[in-house]
Amino acid sequence: MQDQHAWSGRFSEPVSELVKHYTASIGFDYRLAEVDIEGSLAHAAMLNRSGVLSDADLESIRRGMADIRDEIRAGKLEWSVDLEDVHMNIERRLTDRIGDAGKRLHTGRSRNDQVATDIRLWLRGEIDATVHLFGELQKSLLDLAEQHADTVMPGFTHLQVAQPVTFGHHLLAYVEMLARDAERMQDCRKRVNRLPLGAAALAGTTYPIDRHYTAQLLGFDDVCHNSLDAVSDRDFAIEFTAAASLAMIHLSRLSEELILWMSPRVGFIDIADRFCTGSSIMPQKKNPDVPELVRGKSGRVVGHLIALITLMKAQPLAYNKDNQEDKEPLFDTVDTLQTTLRIYADMMRGVTVKPEAMRAAVLQGYATATDLADYLVKKGLPFRDSHEVVALAVRHAEGLGVDLADLPLAKLREFSALIEDDVFDVLTPEGSLAQRDHVGGTAPAQVKVQIARHRGRLS
Ligand code: ARG
Repeated sequence: MQDQHAWSGRFSEPVSELVKHYTASIGFDYRLAEVDIEGSLAHAAMLNRSGVLSDADLESIRRGMADIRDEIRAGKLEWSVDLEDVHMNIERRLTDRIGDAGKRLHTGRSRNDQVATDIRLWLRGEIDATVHLFGELQKSLLDLAEQHADTVMPGFTHLQVAQPVTFGHHLLAYVEMLARDAERMQDCRKRVNRLPLGAAALAGTTYPIDRHYTAQLLGFDDVCHNSLDAVSDRDFAIEFTAAASLAMIHLSRLSEELILWMSPRVGFIDIADRFCTGSSIMPQKKNPDVPELVRGKSGRVVGHLIALITLMKAQPLAYNKDNQEDKEPLFDTVDTLQTTLRIYADMMRGVTVKPEAMRAAVLQGYATATDLADYLVKKGLPFRDSHEVVALAVRHAEGLGVDLADLPLAKLREFSALIEDDVFDVLTPEGSLAQRDHVGGTAPAQVKVQIARHRGRLS
């Protein structure tokens, strides 16, 4: 059938079945249907305003598209692989319904600028939804941080006990990361929110179009100012996926910690059963599947970033079919990140903290050794000397299997006569925390200041 495709006029034979399926994108780009209709309606309104499309045609297009939208929402429109992609499926459906007016819709436009517009419209909406989800997870972390603003835990470097921190402070580190992730998305949105439509296939069009009007109708901040660039670059999608990758990496780090903390060897937290699974062979097992999957899925999103950036490499101007491959990685990036954020916000509400275990770990690790060194420095000893004194005291305590705070004052004074009985204020984990009382420090008072700041920012 010669008229099978909108473009088949110059062809002497139909494409092979294999090629038809290989080149079709309807299997995934049907997701753009609603934004495709939105874009078409704006384009039609602009053509009408510019005198290219009659009032009657615009009216028919509006009616036809409203019906098609209902059909799609009701799941009644059958997508045809013969019609290749979502754009041609909808256009054909429109023409079947309203006749010639449907055929006039594509005046002054190409699928190249149409698809670029659709992806931007779609991604803009998804960015907004994602930013909201980042906010929800941050709020969930803030609630837990608030409950544990003065719960002592060991802070680690090299995964060795380093200095006491509060669990609230530790969680706030992730709030900071997620806040930057959301900020990156919002920044990326500025570059997403520009209109390609009007670039047509690549060189613009001969009709008297008004691109600023179309942009205004679709809520774009600006138009793309070069037609070749407008239809061909997908840097905005790459940028989004890079931001999403970073967010997944942050969540992967948090996942790694949850997994570690939940290990019975550490025992700092428990995760509610609804986020865990058992083993089919080992009856005692309770596995942190959700954080493990998040850690695993981070690789998948980073993979999409590599796919998209490689997709652009070596593409000459302007549009090439390579760009059809932008959709699946982008869709899956959005789906993966959004479901991860959703489940994480819920999961953090299902975390039970075990403060005794955290405190015991602090005491086992000589976490207040730096505090003792700082104490001696404040009494006049140079830091390097005090480091040495404390190292000897730790060695002694370690030999006895006790904490520094368990050594009697007389014993401590053998290491330095500068040590007096106020030393015990800094040797306890609580004393250590309280002294780190500056912006960004782990003192409970500072943790509360940051929680309030974040809550204000998110409200
Ligand atoms: N399905 C195509 C895509 O996703 C639409 C644009 C096709 N343009 C073309 N000239 N073949 O990129």
